[in-house]
Amino acid sequence: MYAAGTLALASASVPAQTAFPPEQIKTGAALFARNCAPCHGARMADPQGAFDLRKFPPDEKLRFVNALMRGKNAMPPLGGAFQPDEIDALWAYVVAGEKP
Ligand code: HEC
Repeated sequence: MYAAGTLALASASVPAQTAFPPEQIKTGAALFARNCAPCHGARMADPQGAFDLRKFPPDEKLRFVNALMRGKNAMPPLGGAFQPDEIDALWAYVVAGEKP
Protein backbone atom coordinates (compact mmCIF):
# COMPACT_ATOMS: atom_id res chain seq x y z
CA MET A 1 0.00 0.00 0.00
CA TYR A 2 1.18 3.51 -0.73
CA ALA A 3 1.80 4.63 2.81
CA ALA A 4 1.74 7.92 4.64
CA GLY A 5 5.48 7.68 5.19
CA THR A 6 6.37 8.77 1.70
CA LEU A 7 3.74 11.49 1.67
CA ALA A 8 4.98 12.87 4.96
CA LEU A 9 8.51 12.82 3.60
CA ALA A 10 7.39 14.59 0.44
CA SER A 11 5.61 17.34 2.32
CA ALA A 12 8.37 17.95 4.83
CA SER A 13 10.14 21.20 4.08
CA VAL A 14 13.43 19.77 2.92
CA PRO A 15 15.31 21.26 -0.03
CA ALA A 16 14.35 19.79 -3.40
CA GLN A 17 16.34 16.68 -4.23
CA THR A 18 17.84 17.01 -7.68
CA ALA A 19 20.52 14.29 -7.62
CA PHE A 20 19.44 10.66 -7.91
CA PRO A 21 21.26 7.34 -8.37
CA PRO A 22 21.65 6.56 -12.10
CA GLU A 23 20.02 3.15 -11.59
CA GLN A 24 16.90 4.77 -10.15
CA ILE A 25 16.68 7.21 -13.06
CA LYS A 26 17.05 4.29 -15.48
CA THR A 27 14.22 2.41 -13.81
CA GLY A 28 12.08 5.54 -13.98
CA ALA A 29 12.88 6.03 -17.65
CA ALA A 30 11.70 2.51 -18.46
CA LEU A 31 8.49 2.97 -16.44
CA PHE A 32 7.93 6.32 -18.12
CA ALA A 33 8.42 4.90 -21.62
CA ARG A 34 5.78 2.23 -20.95
CA ASN A 35 3.23 4.19 -18.94
CA CYS A 36 3.57 7.90 -19.53
CA ALA A 37 5.19 8.47 -22.93
CA PRO A 38 1.96 7.79 -24.88
CA CYS A 39 0.58 11.07 -23.47
CA HIS A 40 3.61 12.99 -22.21
CA GLY A 41 5.85 12.21 -25.18
CA ALA A 42 8.91 10.02 -25.65
CA ARG A 43 11.60 11.22 -23.20
CA MET A 44 9.05 13.87 -22.08
CA ALA A 45 9.85 15.75 -25.29
CA ASP A 46 6.51 15.92 -27.09
CA PRO A 47 3.68 16.26 -24.60
CA GLN A 48 1.10 17.54 -27.10
CA GLY A 49 -1.94 18.24 -24.91
CA ALA A 50 -0.44 16.85 -21.73
CA PHE A 51 1.77 18.61 -19.20
CA ASP A 52 5.41 19.21 -20.23
CA LEU A 53 7.02 17.21 -17.43
CA ARG A 54 10.48 18.67 -18.13
CA LYS A 55 9.04 21.82 -16.59
CA PHE A 56 7.59 20.17 -13.51
CA PRO A 57 8.91 21.96 -10.40
CA PRO A 58 11.46 19.72 -8.60
CA ASP A 59 10.32 20.95 -5.17
CA GLU A 60 6.74 19.70 -5.67
CA LYS A 61 7.03 15.96 -5.24
CA LEU A 62 3.77 15.83 -3.31
CA ARG A 63 1.96 17.43 -6.25
CA PHE A 64 3.55 14.85 -8.55
CA VAL A 65 2.44 11.97 -6.35
CA ASN A 66 -1.05 13.44 -6.09
CA ALA A 67 -1.36 13.69 -9.87
CA LEU A 68 -0.43 10.03 -10.12
CA MET A 69 -2.70 8.83 -7.33
CA ARG A 70 -5.73 10.99 -8.08
CA GLY A 71 -5.33 11.94 -11.72
CA LYS A 72 -6.00 15.44 -12.99
CA ASN A 73 -8.59 16.31 -15.65
CA ALA A 74 -7.60 14.22 -18.71
CA MET A 75 -4.80 12.55 -16.75
CA PRO A 76 -6.08 9.22 -15.40
CA PRO A 77 -5.19 8.11 -11.86
CA LEU A 78 -2.39 5.64 -12.51
CA GLY A 79 -0.61 5.55 -9.18
CA GLY A 80 -2.30 2.41 -7.93
CA ALA A 81 -0.44 0.42 -10.58
CA PHE A 82 2.96 1.30 -9.11
CA GLN A 83 4.93 0.31 -6.05
CA PRO A 84 6.19 3.24 -3.93
CA ASP A 85 9.74 2.65 -5.15
CA GLU A 86 8.48 2.80 -8.73
CA ILE A 87 6.82 6.14 -8.06
CA ASP A 88 10.12 7.34 -6.59
CA ALA A 89 11.89 6.13 -9.72
CA LEU A 90 9.42 7.99 -11.96
CA TRP A 91 9.99 11.08 -9.88
CA ALA A 92 13.77 10.69 -10.18
CA TYR A 93 13.40 10.42 -13.95
CA VAL A 94 11.14 13.48 -14.22
CA VAL A 95 13.44 15.62 -12.08
CA ALA A 96 16.81 14.44 -13.33
CA GLY A 97 16.37 12.05 -16.27
CA GLU A 98 16.53 14.39 -19.25
CA LYS A 99 18.71 17.13 -17.82
CA PRO A 100 21.79 17.94 -19.85
C1 HEC B 1 -3.92 9.19 -20.91
C2 HEC B 1 -2.89 10.20 -21.03
C3 HEC B 1 -1.91 10.33 -19.88
C4 HEC B 1 -1.08 9.37 -19.35
C5 HEC B 1 -0.98 7.91 -19.72
C6 HEC B 1 -0.29 10.04 -18.34
N1 HEC B 1 -0.64 11.36 -18.25
FE1 HEC B 1 0.11 12.73 -16.97
N2 HEC B 1 -1.16 14.14 -17.70
C7 HEC B 1 -2.01 13.98 -18.77
C8 HEC B 1 -2.69 15.24 -19.04
C9 HEC B 1 -3.71 15.47 -20.14
C10 HEC B 1 -2.22 16.16 -18.08
C11 HEC B 1 -2.66 17.62 -17.89
C12 HEC B 1 -3.75 17.64 -16.81
C13 HEC B 1 -4.29 19.05 -16.62
O1 HEC B 1 -3.61 19.85 -15.97
O2 HEC B 1 -5.39 19.30 -17.09
C14 HEC B 1 -1.26 15.45 -17.25
C15 HEC B 1 -0.59 16.01 -16.19
C16 HEC B 1 0.39 15.38 -15.47
C17 HEC B 1 1.13 15.99 -14.39
C18 HEC B 1 0.96 17.41 -13.87
C19 HEC B 1 -0.12 17.47 -12.81
C20 HEC B 1 -0.14 18.84 -12.19
O3 HEC B 1 -0.11 18.90 -10.97
O4 HEC B 1 -0.22 19.84 -12.92
C21 HEC B 1 2.01 15.06 -13.94
C22 HEC B 1 3.00 15.22 -12.81
C23 HEC B 1 1.84 13.87 -14.74
N3 HEC B 1 0.85 14.08 -15.66
C24 HEC B 1 2.59 12.72 -14.61
C25 HEC B 1 2.38 11.55 -15.32
C26 HEC B 1 3.16 10.35 -15.17
C27 HEC B 1 4.39 10.22 -14.27
C28 HEC B 1 2.62 9.42 -15.99
C29 HEC B 1 3.04 7.96 -16.15
C30 HEC B 1 3.03 7.17 -14.94
C31 HEC B 1 1.50 10.04 -16.67
N4 HEC B 1 1.39 11.34 -16.25
C32 HEC B 1 0.68 9.40 -17.60
C33 HEC B 1 -2.21 12.80 -19.46
C34 HEC B 1 -1.62 11.58 -19.19
